[in-house]
Amino acid sequence: MSKPTISEILHANKTLATSFGSSPVAVFVGATSGIGQHTAFKLAEYTESPTIYIVGRSEKAGKYTLDQLRSLNSNPAAKYYFLKHDFTLIKEADSLASELKKLDRLNLLFLSPGYLTLSGRQESSEGIDCKMAVNYYARWRLVDNLMPLLAHTADDLKQPARVVSVLQPGNEGKFNEEDMGLKNHFTLTACNRHIVEFTSLAVLRFARLYPNVSFTHAHPGFVKTGIMRELPWWVKMANPLINCFATDVTTSSEKFIYLSTDPRFAKGAYILDKDLGSIKEKSLSTGYLTEKYQEMVWNHSNELFDAAVAK
Ligand SMILES: NC(=O)c1ccc[n+]([C@@H]2O[C@H](COP(=O)([O-])OP(=O)(O)OC[C@H]3O[C@@H](n4cnc5c(N)ncnc54)[C@H](OP(=O)(O)O)[C@@H]3O)[C@@H](O)[C@H]2O)c1
Repeated sequence: MSKPTISEILHANKTLATSFGSSPVAVFVGATSGIGQHTAFKLAEYTESPTIYIVGRSEKAGKYTLDQLRSLNSNPAAKYYFLKHDFTLIKEADSLASELKKLDRLNLLFLSPGYLTLSGRQESSEGIDCKMAVNYYARWRLVDNLMPLLAHTADDLKQPARVVSVLQPGNEGKFNEEDMGLKNHFTLTACNRHIVEFTSLAVLRFARLYPNVSFTHAHPGFVKTGIMRELPWWVKMANPLINCFATDVTTSSEKFIYLSTDPRFAKGAYILDKDLGSIKEKSLSTGYLTEKYQEMVWNHSNELFDAAVAK
C-alpha cells in the first residue's frame, strides 16, 4: 500500500462524507486536547450532522471542546456530548461502555488518552500501572465491551465501524512473559515495549475475530500538543527547540481523520507509521505478534480486568 501525499489526504477528506456517511456516530477518548480533539474537529467540519462524544477528565477543556465543535458545525442535527471518565481505571472504561451501549450504532471509536511521565510505576487503586492502563488496558477493555455494537454496525447495518488507537507502533518485540503487567519489573523502556506490543496484538486479534470491523494502531510522529504538560520544568524548557521539529496538530488531524474514514482502511488490521505507511509486515517479522501471543496477552488482560473490577 503506497503512502498518500498530503494533497491526496486533503482531497479525500473533503469528500469523506460520501464514503463514510454524512451523519456518523463517533467516540473520541482523550479528546479534550491534542490529536483526539483536533481529529474530532475535522469530523465535525467534514460531515453534515455528526454525533460526537468527547471523553476526558477535564470538564473545563471538555466544555471548550464542545464550544469549538458547535462553532465548526452548527447544524441543529449535529450532536456533541462530553463524558467525564478517568482511563487509569478499568471500572471507568466499563461505566463509559454502559453509557455508550445504548447507541444504535458506532462508526468510529478513536482512542488517544495519554500523558508523558518520567516517573516509575504508579499503581492505581485497581492494581494496574496508570500509564499502562491509559495507553492499553482501559482502551482495550472499552473496545471489548463495545464489540457487539461495532459488529452490529458493520455486519447488520453495513456501515463503517472502526477502532483507531494512537500510540507508537514500531517497538513491538520480546516482552516480559513472567510479569506482563510489570508489577515487579517496571522501567519506562519495558512499559513502552509492553503497551506497544500489546496494542498491536490486540489490533490483530480483534481484526481476526471481527473481519468486518477495522482496527488500527497508528503512530502520530512528533506532534505539537499538550502531551508534555506533566513533565518536569527542566524538560519543558527545551520545548521551543523541540517544537521546531514537530508537526502542528491541525495538519496531523487531517492525517488522522483520513485514516479513520478512508475506504482503504475499511476492514482488517493496520499498523501504520507517521506517514500512513504500513509497518505491519515489519512488526510481524519480530515473531512476537503470532496468534499464540495474541491469546496469551488477551488472557492476561482479562485476568487483570477481573482483578481490577473485583477491588
Ligand atoms: N504528541 C506526540 O508527539 C505523540 C508522539 C507519540 C505518541 N503520542 C501518543 O498519542 C496519544 C495522544 O497524545 P496527544 O499528543 O494528543 O496528547 P495531549 O494533547 O496531551 O492529549 C491527551 C488527552 O488524553 C487525555 N487524558 C490524559 N490522561 C487521561 C486519563 N487518565 N483518562 C482519560 N483521559 C486522559 C487528556 O485529557 P484530560 O486531561 O481531560 O483527561 C487529553 O485529552 C497519547 O497516547 C500519546 O502518548 C503522542
